[in-house]
Amino acid sequence: MSIALLSDPHGNSPALRAVLDNIHQHGCERLFVLGDVINGIDPQGCLDLLKGWPDAAFVYGSAEAYTLTPNLEALPRPDDPMNVALVQLIRWYQAHITPADLAWMQTWPERYNAEGIFMVHDSPLGRFYPETWRDPNLPDEYQEWFYHPWGIHDHLKENELDELFHWMAAQNFTHVFCGHTHVPVIYARENRVICNVGSAGMPLDGDTRPCWAEWQPETPGPAGLTFHRVEYDLQRTLNLIDADPTFNNQDSPAQRKAVRKMYATAIHWRAHIHEFTTD
Ligand SMILES: [Fe+2]
Repeated sequence: MSIALLSDPHGNSPALRAVLDNIHQHGCERLFVLGDVINGIDPQGCLDLLKGWPDAAFVYGSAEAYTLTPNLEALPRPDDPMNVALVQLIRWYQAHITPADLAWMQTWPERYNAEGIFMVHDSPLGRFYPETWRDPNLPDEYQEWFYHPWGIHDHLKENELDELFHWMAAQNFTHVFCGHTHVPVIYARENRVICNVGSAGMPLDGDTRPCWAEWQPETPGPAGLTFHRVEYDLQRTLNLIDADPTFNNQDSPAQRKAVRKMYATAIHWRAHIHEFTTD
């Protein structure tokens, strides 16, 4: 039996389609989706692709949490530049997703927790120690909006890993699966495994091919996990971005060019923005 896990397609439907075709070819029996499905040029296309999978299980990501925040009109600190930009972006996603699918996303849970497995979009550390980030002055419905979580990346410190593996042992989890950082990585101690499954639409590890993870639960430890990188038509994604000037992920010509270059290099757009700011 093998299980497919993917995260962070980020609205990149050509990449997600190629990933799902590849998962299908590998004959995986289950699919887990770890969030940040919608935050890119084709949110509805990505939702439509995933809806076709029987028995897929989802957890929400930062983008879904932000998009589903109620009463954006009453958001605390509305003049904060980050909030102004994020609200604009969220309005764009809301306008490009059907009401039925916004309601569907509302049913996605924060975490999946069963049979020794724990899945969450970002990192169990933040989720299990909410006192480190929850703001007692904010109403409950805005807590996620102001939570900009850390994740499982490829340079975790030894003390962070100690804490994670200690928590896994105490909870009797053998596997933790996350996304969020867009960098595939596996940490293992004995047969306990922490796996970031990478990004199925916006890789940020210098390899432009989207990524998914195949898990064979009968094989304990890290040997049960394989990352797959999938070729896709990157130009189709760039064409989608070029064709829709209303896509609000880029609020300046410089940022638009930097975002295009991010897809073409798999390096975050902030690393490219300085090349274009003289425009
Ligand atoms: Fe993401």
